Amino acid sequence: MTRPDLVPVGELPPLGVVPRRMHAQVIRRERFGAPSSAFQFEIVDVPEPGPDEVLVAVMAAGVNYNNVWAARGYPVDVIAQRRLQGGEDEPFHIGGSDASGIVYQVGSAVRHVRVGDEVILHCVQWKQDDPWIAAGRDPLGASSSRIWGFESNWGSFAQFTKVQARQCQPRPRHLSWAQAASYLLCGTTVYRMLHHWQGNTLHKGDVVLVWGGAGGLGVLAIQLVRLGGGIPIAVVSSEERGQFCVSLGAAGYINRKHFSHWGALTHEINTPEAFSAWAKEARKFGRAIWEISGRNNNPRIVIEHPGEETLPTSLFVCDTGGMVAICAGTSGYNATLDLRYLWMRQKRLQGSHAGNDHDAERFNALVQDRKVDPVLSHVFSFEQTGECHQLMADNRAPVGNMAIVIGASHLEPTGPRSPAWQ
Ligand SMILES: NC(=O)c1ccc[n+]([C@@H]2O[C@H](COP(=O)([O-])OP(=O)(O)OC[C@H]3O[C@@H](n4cnc5c(N)ncnc54)[C@H](OP(=O)(O)O)[C@@H]3O)[C@@H](O)[C@H]2O)c1
Repeated sequence: MTRPDLVPVGELPPLGVVPRRMHAQVIRRERFGAPSSAFQFEIVDVPEPGPDEVLVAVMAAGVNYNNVWAARGYPVDVIAQRRLQGGEDEPFHIGGSDASGIVYQVGSAVRHVRVGDEVILHCVQWKQDDPWIAAGRDPLGASSSRIWGFESNWGSFAQFTKVQARQCQPRPRHLSWAQAASYLLCGTTVYRMLHHWQGNTLHKGDVVLVWGGAGGLGVLAIQLVRLGGGIPIAVVSSEERGQFCVSLGAAGYINRKHFSHWGALTHEINTPEAFSAWAKEARKFGRAIWEISGRNNNPRIVIEHPGEETLPTSLFVCDTGGMVAICAGTSGYNATLDLRYLWMRQKRLQGSHAGNDHDAERFNALVQDRKVDPVLSHVFSFEQTGECHQLMADNRAPVGNMAIVIGASHLEPTGPRSPAWQ
């Protein structure tokens, strides 16, 4: 069959027939800034997969905060950074680190993935011959490890995406394309935060504090904690969001708007007055946890991601010997903490980033077994890529996870649970 030049958005060429060019939502350096204007439609050449890569026709793409950062171009210029580190050389960024789709082309060395496979995509890439990985160590510690569609080009905000074959995971068949696209990045990350860090993994009866309980990470964290027999407590910014978290399994919620001690600790904290004012609010927050979990029942694990505004409190309320697992700094990354609580109570502050293949497979298996719902709350059109990232940047995004339909029909029915949350 002759190779078409371009197919309209929402249409697929015959299976295995790859057009020369594709529609994509593209970020360029001269447009860095607000996500609403940084993303623009362009027509670009479809990339050629390497020997261990595959080309996937994107049916739907998941929306994550990382491409809010990519759109802003600050603090990291993802295009310059990638080129500096020997990544792809294109002077533009096609973002998107979650997707569902159909495999259209496979590289010469690919064995376990075939044209026609319906897949979702795990977001971490690495070099298989990286000495760290070849030595059997966790790939997330390898210098070649990078997030596809953030640190790499050719993410999912395009008609086709180029990925390493091992990123492909089976698509859960009970979910719509949009639902299937929406959860693997956040799910893998939360799975690792709860189950990877030996000595502080989730146990039955553990209280777990979940910041942003109604957000993308939060809705999955609440379900995973419940599945593991733990007691999830959500932190939110409205009563509606709190009730929503309870409907997902949270034991209760705390409205952070009722407290005033947020932000980094400054040098002033060393005066008795400033410390006492801060500690008073932090203790009030701790008591709000006890009202849900019972007196002295402190979080064994804190799922942290706001960062600068909340880390001092996370460390303060974390149980003796417990762990604050942190995967982001949405509110700022110059975090501070009162070290006394860290060493005297032997707490652990653990950085955690995405997850390895095991984390992704385990999480996806729970979704396939219908034990975890992706909580897809809103589906956007391809034209709205900038708009939905802007909602996220402004903390105005709907609860749960969001997806953008590209190859799939916007009218495709959603799966069994999500409509109740739209
Ligand atoms: N490293 C990794 O592998 C990884 C993986 C996934 C996500 N992340 C990062 O984790 C962060 C959260 O991701 P997400 O998908 O859950 O985003 P999201 O859907 O936008 O949810 C974030 C939630 O954080 C809460 N929040 C916002 N500002 C806050 C503040 N100043 N203090 C306390 N809470 C605040 C909001 O809830 P309320 O307003 O209701 O409190 C919001 O719902 C992002 O920065 C993302 O990039 C990192």
